[in-house]
Amino acid sequence: MITKIETVAVIGAGYMGGGIAQSLAAAGMKVVLADVSPEATRAALTRLLREAGEFEAQGLFAAGSAAAIEANLSIADSIEEAVRTVDFVEEVVPEVLAIKHEVFKRICAAARPDAIIGTNTSTLPVHTLAPAVTNPERFLTVHFSNPAPFIPGVELVCGTATDRALIPVVKDMLKRAGRNSAEVADTPGFVLNRLQYVLLKEANSIVEEGIASPKDVDVIVRSTFGFRLPFFGPFAIADMAGLDVYANCFKTFEDAYGDRMATPELLKGLVAEGKFGAKTGEGFTGKHAPEKLAKLVAYRNNAYARMAQLLEELGPSPLVEDD
Ligand SMILES: NC(=O)c1ccc[n+]([C@@H]2O[C@H](COP(=O)([O-])OP(=O)(O)OC[C@H]3O[C@@H](n4cnc5c(N)ncnc54)[C@H](O)[C@@H]3O)[C@@H](O)[C@H]2O)c1
Repeated sequence: MITKIETVAVIGAGYMGGGIAQSLAAAGMKVVLADVSPEATRAALTRLLREAGEFEAQGLFAAGSAAAIEANLSIADSIEEAVRTVDFVEEVVPEVLAIKHEVFKRICAAARPDAIIGTNTSTLPVHTLAPAVTNPERFLTVHFSNPAPFIPGVELVCGTATDRALIPVVKDMLKRAGRNSAEVADTPGFVLNRLQYVLLKEANSIVEEGIASPKDVDVIVRSTFGFRLPFFGPFAIADMAGLDVYANCFKTFEDAYGDRMATPELLKGLVAEGKFGAKTGEGFTGKHAPEKLAKLVAYRNNAYARMAQLLEELGPSPLVEDD
């Protein structure tokens, strides 16, 4: 079994595939790209090298990244040629089951039998894709986020046939590329998109019910709870606020919106046991010593103040700069 990924093929050199290829090449892996035709692949390489130079000049990529990408990124005229010898293949073609199946069949017919095969699918469960992969024990979802050169988080999803020993090998590859990764279960939309789409769905309902305009919803999201999200997830945020407080708020929601917003069983259980989060030293995120909680408050205050300074320095996004 492959224990360290040194060589990679990225199949599909579009928006996401291009950024994934740049990121892995910048981290020193040898990366081969292949798109739907040799012309499309050549055009993608030209774009990616130009962008890498621009990103480095703008200080968005570390010094030396553009040269590393130029040295490590190459192209192949076909999927078969791209995947032939590599340790890891990442499929990044459109989110259409039939296209992905066809591409997996071609990858599997040409790649080494032990090559690890990943898919960047946003929503398709592994079990819908795995039937097109021979030796499905080497197959998993490796889901980068948009824009791939800059967003650090990657979701990993194993299917029932996936060899769990792949996880540390893929995590090591991602770590070398400066990525955080987390393994989640095989369900449609995984974690990222399930949460993101619930937020978008509820935001749509708020607009449809005349509660706020899309613009005002965006102001509130990015300047209140969205402002916290670079540092803390929903469980850490709830622990810091107080789970007893959250349980009371859920009562209001349950009265107004019914079961859909009823108090979650996990939260009820913690509150029943007197675990209210930071204020009692135990909550969703586990048990924490008082010294750690004091450090947490200091970290949080510093993070939020620095975030406010960064936003001030960057200025408003072009979407809101006329407001
Ligand atoms: N765009 C996003 O925000 C985003 C985020 C995360 C994951 N994804 C997922 O990444 C995948 C790709 O999305 P994208 O946004 O990069 O799309 P895209 O359209 O920019 O890129 C897809 C690329 O695949 C190529 N392609 C099509 N058929 C092919 C074939 N048979 N062989 C080789 N290449 C082929 C296309 O020419 C194109 O360059 C999808 O599964 C998508 O759901 C997208």
